[in-house]
Amino acid sequence: MVSPVEHIKEKLSIVDVVSSYVKLEKAGSNFRARCPFHNEKSPSFFVSPVRGSYHCFGCSRGGDIFSFVEEIEGIDFSGALKILAEKAGVQLGGNSNFKERNERTVLFQILEEATLYYEKVLAERKDIEKYLLDRGLTKETIKNFRVGYAPDAWSALYTQLHTKRFSDADIEKAGLLISGTKGFYDRFRSRIMFPIADSQGRVVAFSGRIFPVPENSATPVAKYVNSPETVLYNKSEILFGYDKAKRAMMKENRAVLVEGQMDLLMAHQAGTAETVASSGTALTAQHLKLISRFTDVVILAFDSDNAGFQAAKRGAALALSAGMDVTIAALPKGLDPADAIKKDISIWKNALLEKKHIISYILALLQEKTPDVRALSREVSKEVLPLVAALESKIDQAYFVREIADKLRVAEEVVREELTAWTKRNTAEQAKYTTPQKEFVQPEVKKTMAETIKNSLLGIILWQEKASPPSLDIPQAIKRFEKVAGVDFKKVTDEISVSARENFILQAEMSFTDSKKLSAEVSELLLNLEKEILEEKLSDSMVKLKQAEASNNIEESTRFLKECQELSKRIHEIKSSRFS
Ligand code: CTP
Ligand code: MN
Repeated sequence: MVSPVEHIKEKLSIVDVVSSYVKLEKAGSNFRARCPFHNEKSPSFFVSPVRGSYHCFGCSRGGDIFSFVEEIEGIDFSGALKILAEKAGVQLGGNSNFKERNERTVLFQILEEATLYYEKVLAERKDIEKYLLDRGLTKETIKNFRVGYAPDAWSALYTQLHTKRFSDADIEKAGLLISGTKGFYDRFRSRIMFPIADSQGRVVAFSGRIFPVPENSATPVAKYVNSPETVLYNKSEILFGYDKAKRAMMKENRAVLVEGQMDLLMAHQAGTAETVASSGTALTAQHLKLISRFTDVVILAFDSDNAGFQAAKRGAALALSAGMDVTIAALPKGLDPADAIKKDISIWKNALLEKKHIISYILALLQEKTPDVRALSREVSKEVLPLVAALESKIDQAYFVREIADKLRVAEEVVREELTAWTKRNTAEQAKYTTPQKEFVQPEVKKTMAETIKNSLLGIILWQEKASPPSLDIPQAIKRFEKVAGVDFKKVTDEISVSARENFILQAEMSFTDSKKLSAEVSELLLNLEKEILEEKLSDSMVKLKQAEASNNIEESTRFLKECQELSKRIHEIKSSRFS
Protein backbone atom coordinates (compact mmCIF):
# COMPACT_ATOMS: atom_id res chain seq x y z
CA MET A 1 0.00 0.00 0.00
CA VAL A 2 1.37 3.40 -0.87
CA SER A 3 1.27 6.14 1.75
CA PRO A 4 -1.22 9.04 1.39
CA VAL A 5 1.70 11.37 0.69
CA GLU A 6 2.97 9.21 -2.17
CA HIS A 7 -0.56 8.70 -3.41
CA ILE A 8 -1.14 12.46 -3.52
CA LYS A 9 2.20 13.03 -5.24
CA GLU A 10 1.27 10.48 -7.90
CA LYS A 11 -1.96 12.31 -8.61
CA LEU A 12 -0.79 15.90 -8.45
CA SER A 13 2.21 17.25 -10.30
CA ILE A 14 4.20 20.12 -8.88
CA VAL A 15 3.15 22.12 -11.95
CA ASP A 16 -0.57 21.58 -11.19
CA VAL A 17 -0.12 22.79 -7.65
CA VAL A 18 2.17 25.76 -8.22
CA SER A 19 0.33 27.04 -11.28
CA SER A 20 -2.85 27.53 -9.30
CA TYR A 21 -0.98 30.22 -7.35
CA VAL A 22 1.51 31.71 -9.84
CA LYS A 23 1.75 32.11 -13.58
CA LEU A 24 4.38 29.69 -14.90
CA GLU A 25 6.35 30.04 -18.11
CA LYS A 26 8.06 27.22 -19.90
CA ALA A 27 11.86 27.34 -19.64
CA GLY A 28 13.37 24.30 -21.35
CA SER A 29 12.28 21.21 -19.49
CA ASN A 30 11.46 23.34 -16.45
CA PHE A 31 9.09 26.20 -15.67
CA ARG A 32 9.92 29.64 -14.44
CA ALA A 33 8.03 32.38 -12.60
CA ARG A 34 8.42 35.44 -10.46
CA CYS A 35 8.85 34.12 -6.94
CA PRO A 36 5.60 34.16 -4.93
CA PHE A 37 7.57 34.34 -1.67
CA HIS A 38 9.53 37.52 -2.21
CA ASN A 39 9.32 40.61 -4.37
CA GLU A 40 11.40 40.46 -7.53
CA LYS A 41 11.43 41.92 -11.01
CA SER A 42 13.02 39.11 -13.00
CA PRO A 43 11.91 35.53 -12.43
CA SER A 44 14.29 33.37 -10.41
CA PHE A 45 11.74 30.83 -9.22
CA PHE A 46 12.07 27.45 -10.97
CA VAL A 47 9.81 24.42 -11.04
CA SER A 48 11.06 21.02 -12.08
CA PRO A 49 8.29 18.62 -13.13
CA VAL A 50 10.78 15.75 -13.35
CA ARG A 51 11.98 16.10 -9.79
CA GLY A 52 8.61 17.30 -8.50
CA SER A 53 10.28 20.24 -6.80
CA TYR A 54 10.69 24.01 -6.87
CA HIS A 55 13.56 26.27 -6.02
CA CYS A 56 14.02 30.02 -5.88
CA PHE A 57 17.51 31.30 -6.55
CA GLY A 58 16.54 34.65 -5.10
CA CYS A 59 15.38 33.66 -1.63
CA SER A 60 16.60 30.02 -1.65
CA ARG A 61 13.22 28.61 -0.70
CA GLY A 62 12.56 25.22 -2.18
CA GLY A 63 10.85 21.87 -1.71
CA ASP A 64 7.97 19.71 -2.91
CA ILE A 65 4.20 20.25 -3.26
CA PHE A 66 3.71 19.92 0.49
CA SER A 67 6.26 22.52 1.51
CA PHE A 68 4.99 24.81 -1.24
CA VAL A 69 1.43 24.73 0.11
CA GLU A 70 2.66 25.03 3.71
CA GLU A 71 4.64 28.12 2.83
CA ILE A 72 2.18 29.89 0.55
CA GLU A 73 -0.85 29.21 2.74
CA GLY A 74 1.07 29.80 5.95
CA ILE A 75 -0.07 26.47 7.42
CA ASP A 76 1.58 23.38 8.85
CA PHE A 77 2.02 19.97 7.30
CA SER A 78 -1.35 18.62 8.41
CA GLY A 79 -3.09 21.62 6.86
CA ALA A 80 -1.23 21.16 3.58
CA LEU A 81 -2.08 17.48 3.66
CA LYS A 82 -5.79 18.26 3.95
CA ILE A 83 -5.74 20.76 1.11
CA LEU A 84 -3.76 18.55 -1.25
CA ALA A 85 -5.72 15.40 -0.40
CA GLU A 86 -8.90 17.24 -1.27
CA LYS A 87 -7.40 18.53 -4.51
CA ALA A 88 -6.14 15.07 -5.46
CA GLY A 89 -9.35 13.33 -4.40
CA VAL A 90 -7.43 11.12 -1.97
CA GLN A 91 -9.25 9.88 1.14
CA LEU A 92 -7.46 10.36 4.43
CA GLY A 93 -9.38 7.77 6.43
CA GLY A 94 -8.54 6.29 9.79
CA ASN A 95 -6.47 8.99 11.38
CA SER A 96 -7.96 10.47 14.52
CA ASN A 97 -7.18 13.99 13.30
CA PHE A 98 -9.83 13.56 10.66
CA LYS A 99 -12.67 12.23 12.81
CA GLU A 100 -14.56 15.49 13.20
CA ARG A 101 -14.24 15.97 9.48
CA ASN A 102 -17.77 14.88 8.70
CA GLU A 103 -19.43 17.30 11.08
CA ARG A 104 -17.28 20.12 9.78
CA THR A 105 -17.98 19.19 6.18
CA VAL A 106 -21.74 19.52 6.71
CA LEU A 107 -21.31 22.92 8.39
CA PHE A 108 -19.13 24.11 5.51
CA GLN A 109 -21.83 22.98 3.06
CA ILE A 110 -24.54 24.83 4.96
CA LEU A 111 -22.52 28.06 5.07
CA GLU A 112 -21.73 27.74 1.37
CA GLU A 113 -25.44 27.28 0.58
CA ALA A 114 -26.28 30.30 2.72
CA THR A 115 -23.67 32.38 0.90
CA LEU A 116 -25.09 31.37 -2.48
CA TYR A 117 -28.58 32.18 -1.28
CA TYR A 118 -27.66 35.65 0.01
CA GLU A 119 -25.78 36.35 -3.23
CA LYS A 120 -28.85 35.35 -5.23
CA VAL A 121 -31.12 37.62 -3.20
CA LEU A 122 -28.75 40.55 -3.70
CA ALA A 123 -28.73 39.96 -7.46
CA GLU A 124 -32.50 40.49 -7.43
CA ARG A 125 -32.44 43.59 -5.25
CA LYS A 126 -31.27 46.54 -7.32
CA ASP A 127 -32.05 48.90 -4.41
CA ILE A 128 -29.49 47.18 -2.19
CA GLU A 129 -26.94 47.06 -4.97
CA LYS A 130 -27.45 50.77 -5.55
CA TYR A 131 -26.66 51.50 -1.90
CA LEU A 132 -23.44 49.46 -2.13
CA LEU A 133 -22.39 51.18 -5.36
CA ASP A 134 -23.15 54.54 -3.76
CA ARG A 135 -20.85 53.58 -0.89
CA GLY A 136 -18.09 53.28 -3.49
CA LEU A 137 -17.90 49.53 -4.03
CA THR A 138 -17.60 48.23 -7.59
CA LYS A 139 -19.62 45.30 -8.91
CA GLU A 140 -16.38 43.38 -9.16
CA THR A 141 -15.56 43.86 -5.47
CA ILE A 142 -19.11 42.85 -4.49
CA LYS A 143 -18.73 39.67 -6.52
CA ASN A 144 -15.19 38.95 -5.32
CA PHE A 145 -16.09 39.21 -1.66
CA ARG A 146 -19.39 37.41 -2.26
CA VAL A 147 -21.44 40.14 -0.62
CA GLY A 148 -25.11 39.20 -0.31
CA TYR A 149 -28.38 40.22 1.25
CA ALA A 150 -30.58 38.64 3.91
CA PRO A 151 -34.19 39.67 3.25
CA ASP A 152 -36.48 41.14 5.88
CA ALA A 153 -38.18 37.84 6.75
CA TRP A 154 -38.18 35.45 9.72
CA SER A 155 -37.36 32.25 7.92
CA ALA A 156 -36.23 32.92 4.36
CA LEU A 157 -32.86 31.20 4.77
CA TYR A 158 -34.29 28.54 7.09
CA THR A 159 -36.81 27.49 4.42
CA GLN A 160 -34.17 27.56 1.71
CA LEU A 161 -31.83 25.30 3.70
CA HIS A 162 -34.68 22.90 4.48
CA THR A 163 -35.29 22.34 0.80
CA LYS A 164 -31.63 21.28 0.66
CA ARG A 165 -32.39 18.73 3.41
CA PHE A 166 -30.12 20.09 6.13
CA SER A 167 -31.25 19.39 9.68
CA ASP A 168 -32.33 22.08 12.15
CA ALA A 169 -29.56 21.03 14.50
CA ASP A 170 -26.88 21.44 11.85
CA ILE A 171 -28.21 24.79 10.61
CA GLU A 172 -28.19 26.02 14.18
CA LYS A 173 -24.64 24.72 14.71
CA ALA A 174 -23.59 26.74 11.69
CA GLY A 175 -24.74 29.82 13.61
CA LEU A 176 -27.53 30.81 11.25
CA LEU A 177 -30.57 30.33 13.49
CA ILE A 178 -31.86 31.71 16.73
CA SER A 179 -33.96 29.48 18.92
CA GLY A 180 -37.06 31.34 20.16
CA THR A 181 -40.15 30.33 22.09
CA LYS A 182 -41.99 29.49 18.88
CA GLY A 183 -39.08 27.62 17.34
CA PHE A 184 -36.18 28.59 15.13
CA TYR A 185 -35.88 31.79 13.11
CA ASP A 186 -33.20 33.39 10.91
CA ARG A 187 -30.41 35.17 12.80
CA PHE A 188 -29.79 37.58 9.93
CA ARG A 189 -32.72 39.64 8.67
CA SER A 190 -32.74 42.79 6.55
CA ARG A 191 -28.94 42.86 6.43
CA ILE A 192 -26.14 43.21 3.92
CA MET A 193 -24.17 40.01 4.35
CA PHE A 194 -20.38 39.83 4.38
CA PRO A 195 -19.14 36.21 4.40
CA ILE A 196 -16.16 35.66 6.72
CA ALA A 197 -13.76 33.03 5.39
CA ASP A 198 -11.08 30.88 6.99
CA SER A 199 -7.49 31.06 5.78
CA GLN A 200 -8.35 28.78 2.88
CA GLY A 201 -11.25 30.91 1.71
CA ARG A 202 -14.07 28.70 2.99
CA VAL A 203 -17.00 30.60 4.51
CA VAL A 204 -17.16 30.00 8.28
CA ALA A 205 -19.33 32.89 9.49
CA PHE A 206 -21.10 36.10 8.50
CA SER A 207 -21.16 39.70 9.47
CA GLY A 208 -24.46 41.41 8.62
CA ARG A 209 -24.96 45.17 8.38
CA ILE A 210 -28.47 46.48 8.86
CA PHE A 211 -30.03 47.94 5.72
CA PRO A 212 -32.26 49.80 5.36
CA VAL A 213 -32.03 51.28 8.85
CA PRO A 214 -35.55 51.04 10.34
CA GLU A 215 -37.02 54.48 10.86
CA ASN A 216 -38.87 54.28 14.14
CA SER A 217 -38.46 50.79 15.45
CA ALA A 218 -39.54 50.11 19.04
CA THR A 219 -36.25 48.49 19.98
CA PRO A 220 -32.93 49.82 18.68
CA VAL A 221 -31.26 47.48 16.19
CA ALA A 222 -27.55 46.76 16.17
CA LYS A 223 -25.74 48.15 13.13
CA TYR A 224 -23.80 44.90 12.79
CA VAL A 225 -24.76 41.39 13.78
CA ASN A 226 -22.13 38.66 13.62
CA SER A 227 -22.27 34.88 13.69
CA PRO A 228 -21.78 33.38 17.14
CA GLU A 229 -18.72 31.24 17.82
CA THR A 230 -19.15 27.80 16.26
CA VAL A 231 -17.12 24.68 15.59
CA LEU A 232 -15.76 26.49 12.52
CA TYR A 233 -15.63 30.06 13.78
CA ASN A 234 -13.52 31.33 16.65
CA LYS A 235 -13.48 35.09 16.39
CA SER A 236 -10.16 35.55 18.13
CA GLU A 237 -8.54 33.31 15.53
CA ILE A 238 -10.00 34.71 12.32
CA LEU A 239 -9.22 37.95 10.57
CA PHE A 240 -11.67 39.19 7.97
CA GLY A 241 -10.07 39.21 4.51
CA TYR A 242 -7.06 37.13 5.57
CA ASP A 243 -7.60 34.54 2.84
CA LYS A 244 -7.40 37.22 0.18
CA ALA A 245 -4.56 39.14 1.84
CA LYS A 246 -2.06 36.34 2.40
CA ARG A 247 -0.06 36.60 -0.76
CA ALA A 248 0.01 40.40 -0.72
CA MET A 249 1.17 40.42 2.92
CA MET A 250 4.05 38.16 1.97
CA LYS A 251 4.97 40.10 -1.16
CA GLU A 252 4.63 43.59 0.26
CA ASN A 253 6.08 42.43 3.57
CA ARG A 254 3.50 44.32 5.59
CA ALA A 255 -0.06 43.99 6.85
CA VAL A 256 -2.50 46.86 7.03
CA LEU A 257 -5.04 46.45 9.80
CA VAL A 258 -8.45 48.08 9.57
CA GLU A 259 -11.50 47.73 11.72
CA GLY A 260 -14.59 47.20 9.62
CA GLN A 261 -15.98 45.15 6.75
CA MET A 262 -16.51 48.14 4.47
CA ASP A 263 -13.00 49.40 5.27
CA LEU A 264 -11.53 46.10 4.20
CA LEU A 265 -13.45 45.85 0.93
CA MET A 266 -12.58 49.42 -0.01
CA ALA A 267 -8.91 48.94 0.91
CA HIS A 268 -8.61 45.87 -1.31
CA GLN A 269 -10.42 47.68 -4.08
CA ALA A 270 -7.94 50.54 -3.71
CA GLY A 271 -5.07 48.15 -4.42
CA THR A 272 -4.03 47.54 -0.80
CA ALA A 273 -4.65 43.81 -0.85
CA GLU A 274 -2.37 43.30 2.17
CA THR A 275 -5.24 44.58 4.36
CA VAL A 276 -7.00 42.50 7.02
CA ALA A 277 -9.77 43.51 9.42
CA SER A 278 -10.30 42.72 13.07
CA SER A 279 -14.04 43.29 12.39
CA GLY A 280 -14.95 44.87 15.67
CA THR A 281 -13.07 42.53 18.02
CA ALA A 282 -9.92 43.26 19.98
CA LEU A 283 -6.69 42.21 18.35
CA THR A 284 -5.47 38.98 19.94
CA ALA A 285 -2.16 37.14 20.08
CA GLN A 286 -3.64 34.57 17.68
CA HIS A 287 -4.47 37.30 15.16
CA LEU A 288 -0.89 38.51 15.35
CA LYS A 289 0.36 34.99 14.93
CA LEU A 290 -1.64 34.71 11.71
CA ILE A 291 -0.06 37.91 10.45
CA SER A 292 3.45 37.05 11.56
CA ARG A 293 3.45 33.99 9.32
CA PHE A 294 3.90 36.42 6.48
CA THR A 295 5.30 39.65 7.90
CA ASP A 296 6.46 41.42 11.04
CA VAL A 297 5.32 44.82 9.84
CA VAL A 298 1.85 45.98 10.92
CA ILE A 299 0.23 49.27 9.96
CA LEU A 300 -2.87 50.21 11.91
CA ALA A 301 -5.25 52.29 9.84
CA PHE A 302 -7.91 53.77 12.07
CA ASP A 303 -9.82 56.93 12.48
CA SER A 304 -7.76 58.33 15.36
CA ASP A 305 -10.79 59.51 17.30
CA ASN A 306 -12.70 56.32 17.59
CA ALA A 307 -13.02 53.56 20.13
CA GLY A 308 -11.43 51.04 17.82
CA PHE A 309 -8.17 52.87 18.15
CA GLN A 310 -8.27 52.57 21.94
CA ALA A 311 -8.84 48.85 21.60
CA ALA A 312 -6.05 48.55 19.07
CA LYS A 313 -3.54 49.96 21.53
CA ARG A 314 -3.52 46.83 23.63
CA GLY A 315 -3.01 44.76 20.54
CA ALA A 316 -0.19 47.09 19.60
CA ALA A 317 1.60 46.43 22.89
CA LEU A 318 1.29 42.73 22.19
CA ALA A 319 2.79 43.17 18.74
CA LEU A 320 5.62 45.40 19.96
CA SER A 321 6.62 42.91 22.62
CA ALA A 322 6.88 40.31 19.90
CA GLY A 323 9.36 42.50 18.09
CA MET A 324 6.92 43.51 15.35
CA ASP A 325 7.14 46.90 13.74
CA VAL A 326 3.91 48.76 14.54
CA THR A 327 3.00 52.01 12.83
CA ILE A 328 -0.13 54.10 12.43
CA ALA A 329 -1.52 55.43 9.18
CA ALA A 330 -3.43 58.41 10.52
CA LEU A 331 -6.64 59.38 8.73
CA PRO A 332 -8.32 62.77 8.96
CA LYS A 333 -10.64 63.08 11.95
CA GLY A 334 -14.00 61.47 11.42
CA LEU A 335 -13.02 59.50 8.34
CA ASP A 336 -12.63 55.73 8.51
CA PRO A 337 -10.68 54.01 5.72
CA ALA A 338 -13.86 53.30 3.73
CA ASP A 339 -14.94 56.95 3.85
CA ALA A 340 -11.44 58.21 3.07
CA ILE A 341 -10.99 55.94 0.05
CA LYS A 342 -14.39 56.86 -1.30
CA LYS A 343 -13.72 60.56 -0.87
CA ASP A 344 -10.29 60.52 -2.47
CA ILE A 345 -8.00 57.54 -2.85
CA SER A 346 -4.94 59.74 -2.38
CA ILE A 347 -5.94 60.43 1.25
CA TRP A 348 -5.55 56.73 1.84
CA LYS A 349 -2.32 56.36 -0.11
CA ASN A 350 -0.78 59.34 1.67
CA ALA A 351 -1.81 58.13 5.09
CA LEU A 352 0.03 54.88 4.37
CA LEU A 353 3.08 56.68 3.02
CA GLU A 354 3.26 58.95 6.03
CA LYS A 355 2.81 56.25 8.62
CA LYS A 356 4.35 56.96 12.01
CA HIS A 357 5.68 54.66 14.69
CA ILE A 358 2.84 54.06 17.13
CA ILE A 359 4.80 55.48 20.07
CA SER A 360 5.74 58.72 18.27
CA TYR A 361 2.19 58.99 17.05
CA ILE A 362 0.58 58.67 20.46
CA LEU A 363 3.13 61.07 21.93
CA ALA A 364 2.29 63.69 19.33
CA LEU A 365 -1.44 63.13 19.83
CA LEU A 366 -1.16 63.60 23.61
CA GLN A 367 1.00 66.66 23.20
CA GLU A 368 -1.59 68.24 20.96
CA LYS A 369 -4.40 67.54 23.42
CA THR A 370 -2.49 68.41 26.62
CA PRO A 371 -0.70 71.77 26.60
CA ASP A 372 0.13 71.60 30.33
CA VAL A 373 3.49 69.82 30.71
CA ARG A 374 2.72 68.26 34.09
CA ALA A 375 -0.59 66.88 32.93
CA LEU A 376 1.19 65.66 29.83
CA SER A 377 3.78 63.82 31.95
CA ARG A 378 1.02 61.94 33.72
CA GLU A 379 -0.65 61.04 30.43
CA VAL A 380 2.64 59.86 28.96
CA SER A 381 3.33 57.68 32.00
CA LYS A 382 -0.05 56.09 31.62
CA GLU A 383 -0.37 55.76 27.86
CA VAL A 384 3.12 55.64 26.42
CA LEU A 385 5.43 54.01 28.96
CA PRO A 386 3.62 50.65 28.73
CA LEU A 387 4.32 50.64 25.02
CA VAL A 388 7.97 51.59 25.48
CA ALA A 389 8.31 48.88 28.11
CA ALA A 390 6.81 46.40 25.66
CA LEU A 391 9.47 47.10 23.04
CA GLU A 392 11.64 44.11 22.49
CA SER A 393 14.71 46.00 21.37
CA LYS A 394 16.73 47.92 23.98
CA ILE A 395 18.00 50.19 21.23
CA ASP A 396 14.43 51.14 20.29
CA GLN A 397 13.67 51.68 23.97
CA ALA A 398 16.61 54.08 24.31
CA TYR A 399 15.43 55.94 21.22
CA PHE A 400 11.96 56.55 22.62
CA VAL A 401 13.25 57.41 26.09
CA ARG A 402 15.17 60.23 24.41
CA GLU A 403 12.12 61.32 22.41
CA ILE A 404 9.92 61.39 25.51
CA ALA A 405 12.55 63.31 27.49
CA ASP A 406 12.69 65.89 24.70
CA LYS A 407 8.93 66.30 24.59
CA LEU A 408 8.57 66.62 28.36
CA ARG A 409 11.69 68.78 28.63
CA VAL A 410 13.25 66.60 31.32
CA ALA A 411 16.50 64.64 31.54
CA GLU A 412 16.57 61.19 29.95
CA GLU A 413 17.48 59.77 33.36
CA VAL A 414 14.12 60.84 34.73
CA VAL A 415 12.25 59.03 31.98
CA ARG A 416 14.41 55.95 32.40
CA GLU A 417 13.73 55.86 36.15
CA GLU A 418 10.03 56.24 35.52
CA LEU A 419 10.18 53.39 33.01
CA THR A 420 11.98 51.14 35.49
CA ALA A 421 9.45 52.00 38.19
CA TRP A 422 6.60 51.29 35.83
CA THR A 423 8.09 47.97 34.82
CA LYS A 424 8.52 46.97 38.47
CA ARG A 425 4.94 47.87 39.32
CA ASN A 426 3.61 46.05 36.33
CA THR A 427 5.67 42.90 36.01
CA ALA A 428 2.53 40.82 36.19
CA GLU A 429 0.78 42.92 33.58
CA GLN A 430 3.97 42.99 31.56
CA ALA A 431 4.13 39.21 31.61
CA LYS A 432 0.79 39.20 29.83
CA TYR A 433 2.31 41.23 27.06
CA THR A 434 5.50 39.30 26.72
CA THR A 435 4.62 35.66 27.24
CA PRO A 436 2.75 35.13 23.97
CA GLN A 437 5.78 36.27 22.08
CA LYS A 438 7.63 32.98 22.25
CA GLU A 439 4.60 31.18 20.95
CA PHE A 440 3.88 33.28 17.99
CA VAL A 441 6.99 34.79 16.59
CA GLN A 442 8.95 32.19 14.81
CA PRO A 443 12.16 33.78 13.60
CA GLU A 444 12.71 33.23 9.91
CA VAL A 445 15.39 30.60 10.08
CA LYS A 446 15.86 28.67 6.88
CA LYS A 447 15.94 25.00 7.60
CA THR A 448 18.98 23.22 6.22
CA MET A 449 18.62 19.87 4.51
CA ALA A 450 20.26 18.24 7.54
CA GLU A 451 17.62 19.70 9.85
CA THR A 452 14.80 18.54 7.57
CA ILE A 453 16.15 15.00 7.61
CA LYS A 454 16.71 15.16 11.37
CA ASN A 455 13.07 16.16 11.84
CA SER A 456 11.87 13.28 9.66
CA LEU A 457 13.90 10.84 11.76
CA LEU A 458 12.62 12.32 15.00
CA GLY A 459 9.07 12.01 13.66
CA ILE A 460 9.54 8.36 12.74
CA ILE A 461 11.06 7.44 16.09
CA LEU A 462 8.44 9.34 18.13
CA TRP A 463 5.67 7.76 16.07
CA GLN A 464 7.07 4.24 16.42
CA GLU A 465 7.54 4.68 20.17
CA LYS A 466 3.74 4.79 20.40
CA ALA A 467 3.10 1.96 17.93
CA SER A 468 2.38 -1.54 19.16
CA PRO A 469 4.21 -3.44 17.99
CA PRO A 470 6.76 -1.03 16.57
CA SER A 471 8.11 -1.79 13.10
CA LEU A 472 11.51 -0.59 14.15
CA ASP A 473 14.19 -1.50 16.66
CA ILE A 474 13.74 1.74 18.59
CA PRO A 475 16.72 1.66 20.99
CA GLN A 476 18.99 0.88 18.07
CA ALA A 477 17.48 3.64 15.91
CA ILE A 478 17.95 6.16 18.73
CA LYS A 479 21.56 5.08 19.21
CA ARG A 480 22.34 5.44 15.52
CA PHE A 481 20.56 8.78 15.35
CA GLU A 482 22.55 10.11 18.31
CA LYS A 483 25.81 8.94 16.80
CA VAL A 484 25.18 10.48 13.37
CA ALA A 485 23.55 13.71 14.53
CA GLY A 486 25.87 14.12 17.51
CA VAL A 487 22.99 15.01 19.83
CA ASP A 488 21.10 13.53 22.78
CA PHE A 489 17.74 12.18 21.62
CA LYS A 490 15.90 12.83 24.87
CA LYS A 491 17.26 16.34 25.18
CA VAL A 492 16.28 17.20 21.59
CA THR A 493 12.76 15.81 21.87
CA ASP A 494 12.17 17.51 25.22
CA GLU A 495 12.87 20.83 23.60
CA ILE A 496 10.35 20.42 20.77
CA SER A 497 6.96 22.08 21.35
CA VAL A 498 3.93 19.83 21.59
CA SER A 499 2.47 21.04 18.31
CA ALA A 500 5.74 20.61 16.42
CA ARG A 501 6.04 17.10 17.84
CA GLU A 502 2.51 16.20 16.71
CA ASN A 503 3.30 17.59 13.32
CA PHE A 504 6.50 15.52 12.96
CA ILE A 505 4.64 12.40 14.01
CA LEU A 506 1.75 13.02 11.64
CA GLN A 507 4.17 13.67 8.83
CA ALA A 508 5.96 10.37 9.50
CA GLU A 509 2.73 8.45 9.83
CA MET A 510 1.45 9.84 6.54
CA SER A 511 4.70 9.35 4.65
CA PHE A 512 5.72 5.81 5.62
CA THR A 513 2.92 3.28 5.61
CA ASP A 514 4.85 0.24 4.49
CA SER A 515 6.08 -1.05 7.84
CA LYS A 516 8.28 -3.70 6.25
CA LYS A 517 10.31 -1.02 4.55
CA LEU A 518 10.53 1.33 7.51
CA SER A 519 13.81 -0.01 8.84
CA ALA A 520 15.43 0.40 5.42
CA GLU A 521 13.99 3.91 5.08
CA VAL A 522 15.51 4.87 8.41
CA SER A 523 18.92 3.56 7.37
CA GLU A 524 18.68 5.55 4.16
CA LEU A 525 17.73 8.71 6.06
CA LEU A 526 20.59 8.23 8.51
CA LEU A 527 23.00 7.88 5.63
CA ASN A 528 21.65 11.02 4.00
CA LEU A 529 21.87 12.87 7.28
CA GLU A 530 25.49 11.84 7.72
CA LYS A 531 26.25 13.00 4.18
CA GLU A 532 24.58 16.37 4.73
CA ILE A 533 26.42 16.95 8.00
CA LEU A 534 29.73 15.99 6.41
CA GLU A 535 29.05 18.33 3.51
CA GLU A 536 28.38 21.18 5.91
CA LYS A 537 31.67 20.40 7.65
CA LEU A 538 33.44 20.18 4.32
CA SER A 539 32.34 23.61 3.15
CA ASP A 540 33.42 24.94 6.55
CA SER A 541 36.88 23.37 6.22
CA MET A 542 37.21 24.66 2.65
CA VAL A 543 36.72 28.21 3.87
CA LYS A 544 39.36 27.69 6.57
CA LEU A 545 41.73 26.13 4.04
CA LYS A 546 41.38 29.14 1.75
CA GLN A 547 42.04 31.49 4.66
CA ALA A 548 45.12 29.55 5.74
CA GLU A 549 46.43 29.55 2.17
CA ALA A 550 45.80 33.27 1.81
CA SER A 551 47.82 33.98 4.93
CA ASN A 552 50.58 31.54 3.87
CA ASN A 553 50.17 29.44 6.97
CA ILE A 554 51.65 26.18 5.71
CA GLU A 555 51.03 24.15 8.83
CA GLU A 556 47.33 25.08 8.96
CA SER A 557 46.96 24.65 5.19
CA THR A 558 48.26 21.11 5.38
CA ARG A 559 45.97 20.31 8.29
CA PHE A 560 42.80 21.66 6.63
CA LEU A 561 43.72 20.10 3.29
CA LYS A 562 43.95 16.71 4.98
CA GLU A 563 40.63 17.32 6.74
CA CYS A 564 38.95 18.26 3.44
CA GLN A 565 40.32 15.16 1.74
CA GLU A 566 39.08 12.88 4.51
CA LEU A 567 35.63 14.46 4.49
CA SER A 568 35.40 14.21 0.69
CA LYS A 569 36.40 10.58 0.82
CA ARG A 570 33.73 9.71 3.38
CA ILE A 571 31.08 11.64 1.42
CA HIS A 572 32.09 9.80 -1.70
CA GLU A 573 31.81 6.45 0.09
CA ILE A 574 28.31 7.27 1.26
CA LYS A 575 27.25 8.36 -2.19
CA SER A 576 28.53 5.22 -3.87
CA SER A 577 27.14 2.92 -1.17
CA ARG A 578 23.66 4.09 -2.08
CA PHE A 579 24.00 2.72 -5.57
CA SER A 580 25.49 -0.62 -4.59
N1 CTP B 1 -19.11 46.24 14.67
C1 CTP B 1 -19.74 45.14 15.22
N2 CTP B 1 -20.91 45.30 15.91
C2 CTP B 1 -21.46 46.54 16.06
C3 CTP B 1 -20.81 47.65 15.51
C4 CTP B 1 -19.64 47.46 14.83
O1 CTP B 1 -19.26 44.02 15.07
N3 CTP B 1 -22.61 46.65 16.71
C5 CTP B 1 -17.85 46.04 13.92
C6 CTP B 1 -18.09 45.82 12.46
O2 CTP B 1 -17.13 44.91 11.98
C7 CTP B 1 -17.85 47.20 11.87
C8 CTP B 1 -16.76 47.74 12.75
O3 CTP B 1 -17.03 47.20 14.02
O4 CTP B 1 -17.46 47.12 10.51
C9 CTP B 1 -16.71 49.24 12.81
O5 CTP B 1 -17.94 49.75 13.25
P1 CTP B 1 -18.51 51.15 12.76
O6 CTP B 1 -17.40 52.11 12.63
O7 CTP B 1 -19.66 51.47 13.62
O8 CTP B 1 -19.11 50.79 11.35
P2 CTP B 1 -18.54 50.98 9.89
O9 CTP B 1 -17.54 49.95 9.60
O10 CTP B 1 -18.14 52.39 9.68
O11 CTP B 1 -19.85 50.61 9.09
P3 CTP B 1 -20.48 51.35 7.87
O12 CTP B 1 -19.33 51.98 7.15
O13 CTP B 1 -21.17 50.28 7.11
O14 CTP B 1 -21.42 52.34 8.40
MN1 MN C 1 -17.84 53.35 7.84
